[in-house]
Amino acid sequence: MKKVLLTGSNGLLGQALEQLFQKRYQVLSTGIEDAAEVKTSENSYQILDITDLTKCKDVINEFKPDVIVNAASFTNVDECENKKEQCWQINVKAVENLANLARRHDIHLIHYSTDYVFDGANGPYQEADRPQPLGYYGKSKLASENVLRQIGCPFSIIRTCVLYGTGIAVKKNFFLWVLENLQKEKPISVVTDQFNNPTLAEDLATGSLLIIEKAAVGLYHLAGEEYLNRFEFASMIAKIFDLPADRIKAIKSSQLKQSAPRPLLGGLKIDQAKEKLGYHPRTVSESLSYLKRKITNHE
Ligand SMILES: NC(=O)c1ccc[n+]([C@@H]2O[C@H](COP(=O)([O-])OP(=O)(O)OC[C@H]3O[C@@H](n4cnc5c(N)ncnc54)[C@H](OP(=O)(O)O)[C@@H]3O)[C@@H](O)[C@H]2O)c1
Repeated sequence: MKKVLLTGSNGLLGQALEQLFQKRYQVLSTGIEDAAEVKTSENSYQILDITDLTKCKDVINEFKPDVIVNAASFTNVDECENKKEQCWQINVKAVENLANLARRHDIHLIHYSTDYVFDGANGPYQEADRPQPLGYYGKSKLASENVLRQIGCPFSIIRTCVLYGTGIAVKKNFFLWVLENLQKEKPISVVTDQFNNPTLAEDLATGSLLIIEKAAVGLYHLAGEEYLNRFEFASMIAKIFDLPADRIKAIKSSQLKQSAPRPLLGGLKIDQAKEKLGYHPRTVSESLSYLKRKITNHE
């Protein structure tokens, strides 16, 4: 049985990965919190801050993973503009350390990046398109990709976009923000000029499993397939969850005053992943219906 070291296991993607991987692999889940949010009989959990090189070395020497899946990241796009040093340490320096350890022990390192490495002038983008990030988050993620290429360990870079879903104590993603506000009958303002393809966390986990199983090294775009703007996505959430869509007000990005500039025509083309990996994500409507069942079952 393959041994998988998972970092950031309490995040949205981390929880989806952990739940899927437990069925197939010996998983060591790690995160910066004191305990695992997902508690099952199978999982073992250790505290691991990926910026702590000594601890990373110790955990790898002791667990001897075949694969490291790095789902840990500084993901708050606006905060990255104000906390550049912290962002760089987590999103770049720690990845460099993991990549050096992966090369030394010949471990397959799987790392996540974003469509924010592109400027959004003419997305959706394919793997061969030239990145040109607008904000510091995108710059740090592109730098992390370059670190992996330079160090030359066995690596897979998975770019994804607008990750959404539910989990235990996860940060508010766009889906949860829309849902919670509409359920409280609060009006929300949502942009019509930011386009990308929303990605269900469980689908990204399935794509990551395909990458491991096929030992697919290199760069892959794994995302949902439908290209939507945020207003359209919010309207679909309202429809599937039977909530009032008339509380969603359409606005432009220029009215939002976000600290980090956003790619407008962002998003990713997933043809390569479909062809080479057999990756077939759910439609947005199927994903939202799945989440509705998941939330209802938990309540
Ligand atoms: N979310 C999106 O829309 C999106 C889009 C494109 C790409 N991605 C990429 O997809 C990946 C997963 O994202 P996600 O949405 O699952 O993010 P998330 O929910 O924010 O999860 C990231 C996890 O990493 C943890 N973490 C932060 N610093 C750490 C450190 N030094 N050591 C160990 N763990 C640390 C976080 O803990 P705390 O919560 O305690 O900080 C959190 O549990 C990331 O690489 C992200 O860049 C996400």
